[in-house]
Amino acid sequence: MYASALRRSTLFVAIAFFTLASAGLPLLNPVFAAPTTSEGNDVAASRVVEGLLKKMTLEEKIGQMSQVALNQPQTISPEEQARQGVGSFLFITDPARINHLQHVAVEQSRLHIPLIFGFDVIHGFRTIYPVPLALAASWDPKVAEHAQHMAAREARAAGVNWTFAPMVDIARDARWGRIMEGAGEDPYLGARMAEAQIHGFQGETLGGPDSLLACVKHFAGYGAAVGGRDYEESNISDEQLWNVYLPPFEAAVDAGSGTLMTAYMDLNGVPAAGNNWLLHDVLRDKWHFNGFVVSDWDAVKSLTVHGFAADDADAAARAVNAGIDMEMTSHVYRDQLAAAVKDGRVSQATVDEAVRRILTVKYRLGLFSSPYINVEEAPSRMVTQEQRTASRLAAERSAVLLRNENQILPLKTSGTVALIGPLIDSKADIMGSWSLAAHQADSVTVLDGMKRYTASHPALKIVSTVGVEIERGQPSIFDEQFASPKPKFATDDQRQREFAHAIELVKSSDVAVLVLGESQDMSGERASRSTLTLPGKQEQLLEAAVATGKPIVLLLMNGRPLDITWASSHVAAILDDWYPGTDGGNAIANLLFGEAVPGGKLPVSWPRTVGQEPLYYGENLTQIPDAPNTRYWDGSSAPLYPFGFGLSYSTFTLGNLKSSASTMHTTGSITMSCDVTNIGKIAADEVVQIYTHQRAGSASRPVRELKGFKRVTLKAGEHQTVSIKVDAQELAFWSPQTHKRSVEPGVFDLWVGNSSQATTHTTFAVK
Ligand code: BGC
Repeated sequence: MYASALRRSTLFVAIAFFTLASAGLPLLNPVFAAPTTSEGNDVAASRVVEGLLKKMTLEEKIGQMSQVALNQPQTISPEEQARQGVGSFLFITDPARINHLQHVAVEQSRLHIPLIFGFDVIHGFRTIYPVPLALAASWDPKVAEHAQHMAAREARAAGVNWTFAPMVDIARDARWGRIMEGAGEDPYLGARMAEAQIHGFQGETLGGPDSLLACVKHFAGYGAAVGGRDYEESNISDEQLWNVYLPPFEAAVDAGSGTLMTAYMDLNGVPAAGNNWLLHDVLRDKWHFNGFVVSDWDAVKSLTVHGFAADDADAAARAVNAGIDMEMTSHVYRDQLAAAVKDGRVSQATVDEAVRRILTVKYRLGLFSSPYINVEEAPSRMVTQEQRTASRLAAERSAVLLRNENQILPLKTSGTVALIGPLIDSKADIMGSWSLAAHQADSVTVLDGMKRYTASHPALKIVSTVGVEIERGQPSIFDEQFASPKPKFATDDQRQREFAHAIELVKSSDVAVLVLGESQDMSGERASRSTLTLPGKQEQLLEAAVATGKPIVLLLMNGRPLDITWASSHVAAILDDWYPGTDGGNAIANLLFGEAVPGGKLPVSWPRTVGQEPLYYGENLTQIPDAPNTRYWDGSSAPLYPFGFGLSYSTFTLGNLKSSASTMHTTGSITMSCDVTNIGKIAADEVVQIYTHQRAGSASRPVRELKGFKRVTLKAGEHQTVSIKVDAQELAFWSPQTHKRSVEPGVFDLWVGNSSQATTHTTFAVK
């Protein structure tokens, strides 16, 4: 009797709710109405979630714990799955289809639970921003935050409400293709970029109109894949895990990341998707993460491939018991979990807890009160002028100037510029990998940008040709999206003529800009490389161009450090613009002609040769302290360009280092200040960086560790005193001797400068 009355009243509420929705009126489901304070929000979330949990069948709970990829063939229609109460779809970006499926879930499923739509909004949705490694090269967390905020706005307008980003895996091996998706090698820079991106995606609080649920990934240690080979196992000592690989995850959790994705590989012999210690002891017990955990693609089923789970049923039980709340794509939960609950391998309480977390996040995101989007409005919110401008500014701030002999850059605005290279006019490549919802037609290539610039500079002429093509390897997993272009030059004769034509253009021009690097599918997932040289005949083209005697600018497009050792001493200017995104061509034209000034710094050490990898500045110095760069018989072990390095069109001096105190307490802080002066003739940016080294402790400490930075803009001749606070807590480390993280008193060196090779030095003590 009571139950049927309740069902009737729910039906009444549901009818009222759907009437409002179909009338296009603002939706506020009275059952799920969102309260205004976050405390109230938690209470209300708990009321709604606990109410639902009481009503849900085991099958409905397992439905919520399942995520289905709609780019895969389906045996059950997506509508039917929505009706049955699947928790999430991924890889669907059409606003009308998203809205339709949401209507089905909310209106036709028994409990009216909204779906959550996931997608890899890694560096933009329709408008593409510079790849994450480039955003880190800005050394300006605000740049990363704003780019991800703009990406969130577009994605939400299309109905996507969950991104699988940021990727915060520390990557110290340039062979690993996914180095492009993170912030590089350093835990401090990585942590600052992690929290900035979480704030960018989610906004102040989860649930605002443009708030996109973030998913920090891949927990943990994926970046240490052996040999840089994607998906390979990682063997990481506790010391490295706590001090290098985990800090960006902790920062993302502290910044409020609503979800977390586990990694594919074995970490020290245990698959990340079945790793109790990572998911319980670290994530829940130590860091108090209260969002939900999703596996990576098929990673639950893969537990059998690892030689970890005996079969699918065992995989389901182990994953859910380890703490994987939602399974991505493989149907092991759907097919096996109910039996595992019935035979007691998984407790009902464990399932309830997973569902509780998922529903709570859906509630916090506002999906219960506002599940739909305005489909008509969506197109006008894509690739707006505001988005384009933000993409261009981010690209300008991410560029790193590696060399500029005789101030060849910025280029003069008169004369003939030869624009040469396979990447000059590639609409796909300029966006980089993980640009899955982008439309190539929206991209501004380097050639487009240069033509736009020339149009307002009549004394300037651009001539262009590709010269060589990049030989593509095996088809990438994203070829469906960005089908590899067919080679234009089919025969050797055609190729030779094109090469010669390019060199003729260089000879007949005043300056040549060679746009070289990797095609977009050469970095990202499943795109590791065993070499770092410029692929194909690009190096030969570069050498032939230099041999003409004309001034040459090498403009790099890349998702990882490349072997440009020859270029570093033969090519007059080298500008790295990474994959700059949708408006990249305009950014590059502005940078080349001095309308914008490069001020980015490398977020990763740049090797001389692939054999140096893994390469990073924060190493522990052992033995022969006076000769740290001679660790190879056949070459230097120093980087070609150090971490933190980058030039400018202007010149800065940095000095007068002062410290607010010479000692600090283990719970205190000191403020370092130094004077920065722009002694050049144009306004430009400098990044002030602080590095420390602990001289002695319970464990060896890295030669240098980044502990603070600030990017400042100074007018020509301007002088600024830059202050950076160093908290003692930032000096804490996890010691393999004490098995805990603490600040160990002692003497510290401190350097301030504009790269990890900073020379202005002082010392301080922690007591
Ligand atoms: C990748 C994840 C990604 C997921 C969904 C996986 O193969 O490792 O980073 O988020 O696919 O696209």
